[in-house]
Amino acid sequence: MKNTVVVGAQFGDEGKAKITDLLASNADVIIRYQGGSNAGHTVVYNDKKYKFHLVPSGILYEGKTCFVGAGVVIKPDDFQKEINELIAEGISEEHFKKALKVHPLAHITMPWHTEVDGYSENSLGKNKIGTTKKGIGPTYTDKYARVGIRVEDLFNEETLSEKLDVILPLKNKMLDKVYNLNTYSKDEAMALCAKYRKIFAPYVCFEWQQLLDDAKRNKTILFEGAQGVLLDIDYGTYPFVTSSNPVGGGAGVGASVGPLAINEVIGVFKAYITRVGEGPFVTELLDETGEKIQKIGAEFGVTTGRPRRCGWFDAVIAKYSVLVGGLSSIALTKLDVFDTFETIKLCTAYKNKKTGEITEYYPTNVYTHKDYEPVYEEFKGWMSDTTKVKHFDDLPNEAKIYLKRLEEVSGAPIKIISIGPDREQTIFV
Ligand code: IMP
Repeated sequence: MKNTVVVGAQFGDEGKAKITDLLASNADVIIRYQGGSNAGHTVVYNDKKYKFHLVPSGILYEGKTCFVGAGVVIKPDDFQKEINELIAEGISEEHFKKALKVHPLAHITMPWHTEVDGYSENSLGKNKIGTTKKGIGPTYTDKYARVGIRVEDLFNEETLSEKLDVILPLKNKMLDKVYNLNTYSKDEAMALCAKYRKIFAPYVCFEWQQLLDDAKRNKTILFEGAQGVLLDIDYGTYPFVTSSNPVGGGAGVGASVGPLAINEVIGVFKAYITRVGEGPFVTELLDETGEKIQKIGAEFGVTTGRPRRCGWFDAVIAKYSVLVGGLSSIALTKLDVFDTFETIKLCTAYKNKKTGEITEYYPTNVYTHKDYEPVYEEFKGWMSDTTKVKHFDDLPNEAKIYLKRLEEVSGAPIKIISIGPDREQTIFV
């Protein structure tokens, strides 16, 4: 296998975890490159469900290195909780200590980040972003404002103390005067950091340069993205986005290896589209068809439990995702959800309701999306069970027709089709 990036190509929750899990079997090093515990990935293995937020799901294999990269932001308590839960599911503590590494340059989500996230969402009222309230936005804000705390800071008390002398007065002023939230004394902040140091001590990888130098030369790397292209801070449905770069280009930066270490970028799409949180999407179905997709697809968030909004596959988005996400191929998940649909629709363009203009290119100003309606092509459903199909040729003809058209309008080849949660329920095209 070549060094491959797995990118969510829609609004997150496309089933990346299963694809990452499959590809991880052929990789030596798995690096998560952005996001934080806002992400929620479920992997089904040996009839057991494993839930991941920060830990790369490659941890389910023996002999792999799973790296939480520099581009990730980590809430220490969430990180510890996730490890504890996975240990309770049967993954040994020794295995974690051997396989899991954390980049010392990853930023820490402090309690004030979570508090500010909650405050901002509540105060935005009906204009809220619908964040996961995990403190992700405020952590990245501080990273870019150059007042963040990184994992490496926890391990040098002297420089941490110096840093906090700069950061805390500023932070406290903001917390008090802007947000009307509790402030933190230096002692409290130092005590929190001491607690976090203990959490990261078994995993922090100060030898990351040697590890990645070796990985680039001698190993196969799988880059694991979180969220999706349409939630990208630069290219997503701004401001209804997350605060990092899920696009393929984000992998080189967030995983510390640069773009030339990447050979392939697989974009994971669902055969339809879902979204949690606020923000428009043009093919959203607010009727019983949307409810049917939600029910059969079990579309409820792993991190927040929120129901996901559902709609038909949007090839305007797909084409955009292929472009800005840098996708070289497509993994299409949940095709089987359509097994009982008599008709399936595919959006191939948007029509501007005011001007009548038709476009196949994605309008980036989301505030104009209410002016667009989807232009659909209709496909006859296959009305049969696809969940046991092993080869593309054995798929029903109607499914092949739908897939061929989807591929054509999206602009990248479909390489993987998933027809159920198990590893075996996968067709390599
Ligand atoms: P944040 O990442 O918590 O700041 O939330 C910003 C937006 O990204 C909200 O619409 C969230 O619902 C969405 N979001 C964040 N993480 C995920 C994810 O893993 N899957 C789907 N949506 C997500």
